Amino acid sequence: MTKIEACLFDLDGVIVDTAKYHYLAWRRLANELGFDFTQEHNESLKGVSRMESLKILLQVGGLTVDETSKIEMAERKNNWYCEYISKMTPDEILPGAKEFLEELRHKGIKIALGSASKNAMTILNNVNLVNHFDAIIDGTKTSNAKPNPEVFLLGAKELNVLPSECVVFEDARSGIEAATNAGMYSVGIGDPLVLNKANIVVSSLKEMTLEKLNY
Ligand code: G6P
Ligand code: MG
Repeated sequence: MTKIEACLFDLDGVIVDTAKYHYLAWRRLANELGFDFTQEHNESLKGVSRMESLKILLQVGGLTVDETSKIEMAERKNNWYCEYISKMTPDEILPGAKEFLEELRHKGIKIALGSASKNAMTILNNVNLVNHFDAIIDGTKTSNAKPNPEVFLLGAKELNVLPSECVVFEDARSGIEAATNAGMYSVGIGDPLVLNKANIVVSSLKEMTLEKLNY
């Protein structure tokens, strides 16, 4: 790729291990509604907005509900999720994430967050990482969920760089697609079978170096 000017990071499952809390809260909702929700079902929720996630979950359970119930259910899930994340500490930063952010800063590469979550600021505050980002684009600033590229294009715009100069780090299929749709290079974090559309895949940011991007 051309010279890297910026790196854009998804939050849940890339910087912090909150993917497990989203799963726990969605599973709890599914169980209350009377059906099971497996890790495999959960894959399709990763990176997807709260209301879109609920829609997928209700499809898994074969349920049709009215708008008012949907809002109540999404709120019920979010309350449990907020309870989990309220106790988060910097210990829950994923291996290598903080070190990689610091390496980028040291090399003068700009850094943005690109997350669908409306809880992103709470999490970044709890793990003390707010100051590691030059721009923060979260679910309060976007209206189109990944795989729509909006979140990453807004990040590039706020950092004043071109999409072709950006690298996206993502743990979700929908996020990798969003990066591709934005015209950005993508690094999958996790399972190469799930993230087969990424340009490269590593198991965690601990395995990540700028050399792997041919920088
Ligand atoms: C991230 C997560 C999704 C989550 C979405 C919205 O993209 O990967 O699992 O549904 O954010 O999060 P929120 O905290 O606003 O419900
Ligand atoms: Mg994620």
